Amino acid sequence: MKIIALSCTQKRLPSVTDALLEAAVTGLVQEAKDAVIQPIRLIDHRIEMCEAEDTCLDPSVGRCTLEDDFQRVVDLAEGADAMLLAMPVYGGNVPAVLKIFQERLKSFMNAANRPFGNMTVATIVHSRTMLTEPALGALFPWYLRLKNKNVASVCVSQNDHQELAGTAAHDLCVALGRQLGMSLEAKSSPAPSRTVLPLLQSPPRPRCGDPVASRPGA
Ligand SMILES: Cc1cc2nc3c(=O)[nH]c(=O)nc-3n(C[C@H](O)[C@H](O)[C@H](O)COP(=O)(O)O)c2cc1C
Repeated sequence: MKIIALSCTQKRLPSVTDALLEAAVTGLVQEAKDAVIQPIRLIDHRIEMCEAEDTCLDPSVGRCTLEDDFQRVVDLAEGADAMLLAMPVYGGNVPAVLKIFQERLKSFMNAANRPFGNMTVATIVHSRTMLTEPALGALFPWYLRLKNKNVASVCVSQNDHQELAGTAAHDLCVALGRQLGMSLEAKSSPAPSRTVLPLLQSPPRPRCGDPVASRPGA
């Protein structure tokens, strides 16, 4: 069983995204014994922006004519059954590296075989402080278009988990990987072996609309 581990960080060096994705892969291989992981770091490939010429949709051309690494990345995903996708939040949305890649996949819109489509996926989205959920939501039109089924998602913020790679957020990603593995193997979770997560209480912080505290002596 081939599973894509798609990292959508824009860091050249190992990143939080990669650490969380690795945790999810650890959980996945616990459950899906025959899993063959195909890692893909989008930022390590040269993928140009779609030029919207629509030559790919012309039946006499039938493919994207930009010369870069796009087809190589598509080939890496050949025959995959599932995907683990991990991404940081950029401006409450998906990082540009993923948006550019999504737009290039439009060239397969009329193809019988849609790369990165018709598969089971699980998703990790993380942010520094905020807007994690809208970024996750931004993925769903793409998943729907590709006929992907998202079995589970994890949204984490460094606000609540300062050290993402060594906390409950990390455990949550292991559990996410297990969930994907169990879905692929069509088995349900044995309750006693579920990861037990400690409850974290984030420190109170001011929120928009809070009454302004009166200052002593004012
Ligand atoms: C261009 C840019 C935009 C960002 N936008 C947000 C944001 O909207 N909300 C947020 O909480 N963090 C935001 N961040 C912080 C990243 O989500 C955070 O640093 C993340 O951990 C980076 O993951 P990485 O280590 O894989 O690069 C942004 C970072 C960058 C570089």
